[in-house]
Amino acid sequence: MAHPPRAPGPRGLPVTGSLWRLSGDALGFLGSLEERYGAVVQARIGHLRYHLISDPELIEQVLWRRADCYTRASPSNSKLTDITGSSLLTTIGGEWHKRRKLIAPFFSRERMSLELPTMIEMTSRHLSRWSEPAQRGEPVSATASIMGLTCAIVSKVLFGTAVEDPALEQALADILLHHWRRLKDPLELLHRFPTQSRKAFDAGNQLVAQIVAGVSQHGGEGTLLEALRAAAGEKTGIQIEDELITLLIAGHETTANALIWAMHLLANSPAIQEQLRAEALEADYSSGTPLPIATRVFQESLRLYPPIWIIEREALVEDELGGFRIPAQSSVLVAPWVMHRSRRFWSDPDRFEPERFLSAPAKHVYIPFGIGPHACVGVNLALMEGPLLLSLAARAWKWRGIEGARVAPQPGLTLRMREPLRLLVEPVQ
Ligand code: HEM
Repeated sequence: MAHPPRAPGPRGLPVTGSLWRLSGDALGFLGSLEERYGAVVQARIGHLRYHLISDPELIEQVLWRRADCYTRASPSNSKLTDITGSSLLTTIGGEWHKRRKLIAPFFSRERMSLELPTMIEMTSRHLSRWSEPAQRGEPVSATASIMGLTCAIVSKVLFGTAVEDPALEQALADILLHHWRRLKDPLELLHRFPTQSRKAFDAGNQLVAQIVAGVSQHGGEGTLLEALRAAAGEKTGIQIEDELITLLIAGHETTANALIWAMHLLANSPAIQEQLRAEALEADYSSGTPLPIATRVFQESLRLYPPIWIIEREALVEDELGGFRIPAQSSVLVAPWVMHRSRRFWSDPDRFEPERFLSAPAKHVYIPFGIGPHACVGVNLALMEGPLLLSLAARAWKWRGIEGARVAPQPGLTLRMREPLRLLVEPVQ
């Protein structure tokens, strides 16, 4: 039987392939691949072959139906273990499954709704800190504030201790930046030698380890920490610190970035900000009534700026997708960034328009939390926290951007902003 053909794609340069395009403007490059070549595209980076899949049916095959043939343990994903160790995010097969079974119940909707009063109290306290810069007429550092708040919330909810260490955010930024540089450097020169980037990475990891060691000593009765403590040990291979680091990073970096982008989008859309405020001023938060406008704003921000903008798998065996050959050991990429902004699936895709979520998006076109067995374990927490924080912010504050400030996405392990977001705020009367 004849082999299916190779997928179309750019030829790239002789040795590096498309590396320079990816290093320059990764987001624009990926979008252009789908527009130019279609639903299955191949590109080469150094000696590695990548396939970008941008079709809902095929995405379902890769991430769900044939998940056994597409492993998450790709060479680049495996490098994550240098940050998180062996955890829910980095293990596969039986090792992963026992962790998922242990951890997932702590994120049920019922459990999350019990945390509502804690989240409201912590958010209100953090937001009241905006008064000082506001009184001085200075901008608020929205990035630092939101990163700090989401970190405090996730650690309080899951481990019983609110982690509030300003040095942690810089450490995480250093860790994630170095990790991303490493992924783009096929020879790993930055990682193998004592470069500035490598030193900052090591120092960052050390600080995170110290913070987590402190957290793991505390009680945390009835929390996920307690369940981890009971399950940890040589027999199970579960290490408390590795799981804590994973949940701390995965659980606040993503939600924080989604919220920071939402605050920016709202700063540029005063009418939508007003709608959000009108809903907030009527809301009875403690009874957990739905916040439909805040929810749609958060969903739309996740569409435009999906914190996990790309998901990678490695084909374990040769396969065929959309009529094209996927060789064994080649890499398969699913990019929420591409799916969420494709003209094939959305009208006016670059426009911020929360009302588009009045009706449900087509299946597997909107995938900010992934799909299949490895879909986000923290989705209920994120979908409760995101709209709640936006709503509480709009109830207390009006905000706008700083004239002339440049805002651009910086793709890395997550989709951050190139520069921290600063906002001018005034209290709601
Ligand atoms: C807006 C917020 C969030 C977004 C956009 C997001 C996105 C994602 C995505 C796309 C995946 C799937 C990755 C893949 O298939 O390889 C994932 C997995 C994961 N997420 Fe999230 N996430 C968010 C919040 C959270 C929170 C709050 C937590 C925990 C506190 C969390 C913990 C994890 C973990 C541990 C995994 C791996 C799950 C597994 O393999 O079983 N995430 N997330």
